[in-house]
Parts: sequence; C-alpha cells; structure tokens
Amino acid sequence: MQLAIVGDKLIEASKLDSAYLDYGTFFGDGVYEVLRSYDGKLFALEEHLARFKRSLAEIEIEGININDIREKVIMAWQKSGYANAKIYFHITRGAGPRDHAAEGLTPRFFLLVSEAEDATKQKQNGITAMTVPDTRWKRCDIKSLNLLPNVLAKRLAHKRGCDEAIFVDDKGGITEGSSSAFFLIFGNNLQTSPLAANILPSITRQFVLKIYKNAGLNLLEKQTRVEDATKADELFIAVSSKDIVPVVKFNEITISGGKPGKYTKLLMSEFAKLVKK
Ligand SMILES: Cc1ncc(COP(=O)(O)O)c(C=O)c1O
Repeated sequence: MQLAIVGDKLIEASKLDSAYLDYGTFFGDGVYEVLRSYDGKLFALEEHLARFKRSLAEIEIEGININDIREKVIMAWQKSGYANAKIYFHITRGAGPRDHAAEGLTPRFFLLVSEAEDATKQKQNGITAMTVPDTRWKRCDIKSLNLLPNVLAKRLAHKRGCDEAIFVDDKGGITEGSSSAFFLIFGNNLQTSPLAANILPSITRQFVLKIYKNAGLNLLEKQTRVEDATKADELFIAVSSKDIVPVVKFNEITISGGKPGKYTKLLMSEFAKLVKK
C-alpha cells in the first residue's frame, strides 16, 4: 500500500484525487498555450493550436485531437462571457505513480479562462526591464510547463522594481523575456534575435513580423546583444496576453526619453487593427 499526506492528512494513495499525481506537478511534463480575445473576437487561435500541436509532438505526447481542443477553447470562452478573455490551457502526460519514464498514461487536459488584464497603463507609460542570465534548458522553442527559471527571473526583476526580466545567454546574446519576445528599434529598423532552439516562437512576434512594414520599419533578424538594447531608440516586449508593450527603462538606462517611442506606438496601432480583423 502506498501512503500519501495531503496538507496534514494521511491517506491511502489509491484514494487520492488524481490531480495530485499529475506529471505536470511531478516533472513539469506537459505543454501549454495562452491566447486571448479582443472585444469578442478570439485572436490567433489557429496559430496557437499549431504551436501546441508541435509542442506535443516534441515531447512525445500522442493521440491528441486538435479539433477537440479547438472546440473546448471556444466553448469555455463563450461560456465565460468575457469579451476580453485570457485563455490558458495545457496537456500533461497524465497521472500515475511517480516514474520518470512511465508508459501508457492518459494525457490530461486543463483549461482556465479569465478576464484579460487591462494593460492600458503599461502600454501608455511603458514598463521597465532588466537582464538576467538565461539558465534555461536548450529547448525553449517548446512551450513546456517547466518554467522555474522564468519564474525566478521574473521574481528577481520584481524584487529590483522591474516589470520584466530579459534573458541573456553565456555569450551576451539576448534570447527573449521571461514571458515575452523582445524587440529593439534603431532609426527605422526593427531588430530581434532570430528564432532558434533557445527561443519560443512567439505568436505575437509572428504577427509583429506581418505588420512592421505598415509602420514604415525594416526588419533585422539578427543576434541581439545587451549593448544593442542599451543603445536602442526604442524597445518593446511582445506577448499574447498584452500584445505590444513599450520598454522605457532597460538596466536602469532610460530609453526613448522614458516614454513609448513613435514606432512602437505605430506598431501598437497596427496591432490594434489586426485583432479586429
Ligand atoms: C518565454 C516566452 N517567450 C515569448 C513569449 C511570447 O509568446 P506569445 O507571443 O506566443 O505569447 C512567452 C509567452 O508567454 C514566453 O513565455
């Protein structure tokens, strides 16, 4: 017989709610997505589902019907009644005895829908960011539940009075934010590090790369360094929950006079058009 303690209660493991035996909890063994709706329209659902499918394949969780996930997302969102919703969902490998390489588990789906945070103030005033060493594993292109380095980076940033932590690799190269993609603007050039195994293929990034020309920008996808960011005319982060948010202080250096810059504002208004389509 296996025994468990939940809080202060000793119980037979066989009587445990299976949520306690989830591989997401034991190992971070699962993948997730976050998307949102804008004024009653879901944004980029297909792009999120495509990335989710890829993440599942990369960690060998098989037999998931993406149509079924799509239906669940839409149903939960509609039931929530939120015009501006944030939808989180994940699939873990399943629940069972704690064993790193267990076979035959049934994957478990979980979804949470809530009202999207109002990011108006952050968009109007900009946020602050600081760099932290990128201590993550080498497959950050997979949107996995393993987020401990991201959590610690964000906690450190908050302790230092910053909103976002920007990861820097061993060679001084910027990868991305702890929960965002990262962009620079020099003159009329938009710069971001190219996608690689150490960067999440951000959906918001994907859309920024569709609209930058409308804002009169050229694109430079090249390995971005910390020195580039400190010298940039404008900086911003990109994330599904808030789309584009200007960064007005980076490692204590004031960027763009401490206010959102002209091109970032243009990109924000282009993005606002996109989410209405
Ligand atoms: C590490 C990391 N990079 C980038 C992003 C932005 O990705 P997306 O635009 O798909 O939300 C996120 C979002 O949570 C993230 O966690």
